Amino acid sequence: MSLRAAASSALRGATRSSRGVVASSSSARAISTSAPRASDSIFVHRDTDYNNPSIPFKFNDQMLAQAKEIISHYPPQYKKAAVIPLLDLGQRQNSGWTSISVMNYVAELLEMPRMRVYEVASFYTMFNREPVGKYFIQLCTTTPCALRGASPGFSSFVQPGESILETMVSHLGIKPGQTTKDGMFTLLEVECLGACANAPMAQVNDFFYEDLTPETTRKLLDDLKAGKVVKAGPQGGVRHTSEAATGRTALTSKPTGTEVFRADFA
Ligand code: FES
Repeated sequence: MSLRAAASSALRGATRSSRGVVASSSSARAISTSAPRASDSIFVHRDTDYNNPSIPFKFNDQMLAQAKEIISHYPPQYKKAAVIPLLDLGQRQNSGWTSISVMNYVAELLEMPRMRVYEVASFYTMFNREPVGKYFIQLCTTTPCALRGASPGFSSFVQPGESILETMVSHLGIKPGQTTKDGMFTLLEVECLGACANAPMAQVNDFFYEDLTPETTRKLLDDLKAGKVVKAGPQGGVRHTSEAATGRTALTSKPTGTEVFRADFA
């Protein structure tokens, strides 16, 4: 079984087992639960053939130089404060995920107990504890994005099967929590990413893609797969950043005062 297939299987297995706990408790009072999310299953580490402490990891020269520069910002006795940026460097070098070897290496570099690093990495969901595809898609399905078409069943203007989530699922052939067989895409449903004014939106690796429609979503995925650079921000050319879709209604002329403004007064 390939590394990505194993990871997808682990995510699915964890999701199934968490459902099983509820289903098998026949004597327990029925409770209402939200659907299990793939991200729920990544808090526990289990050694696997692709993620165990015997797999070597160390920073390359470029990352090590960056790590040393970051560590130099802190007094020597407090260098453990650099744990988050160093884990981030480790994840970037390790194809977008934070393995147990990355965590152990960061602990060694910062001279801190391994468990302290595990606590940080398992608390912040920005650290992927399972392998991800080349393009890690985090689709927001919180209320503003859901109402603007991210999720099925929230808006009357969304045709059946045409929510952004359904579009991604059908176009990529995977469900949330899974990675495509070619290792190009991992899809995850996430909570609000703070770009609600441009809902619906998704984050792909480091960039936000906003004002998504089924058409622009399919184009985005196709362009990424083809290796094209896709401009981040609102898709479809309707507006600039989060200006009103109908055009600017404020700051349309130069304000009074001595301040220096951009040419468009924004
Ligand atoms: S609800 Fe989607 S970005 Fe805030």
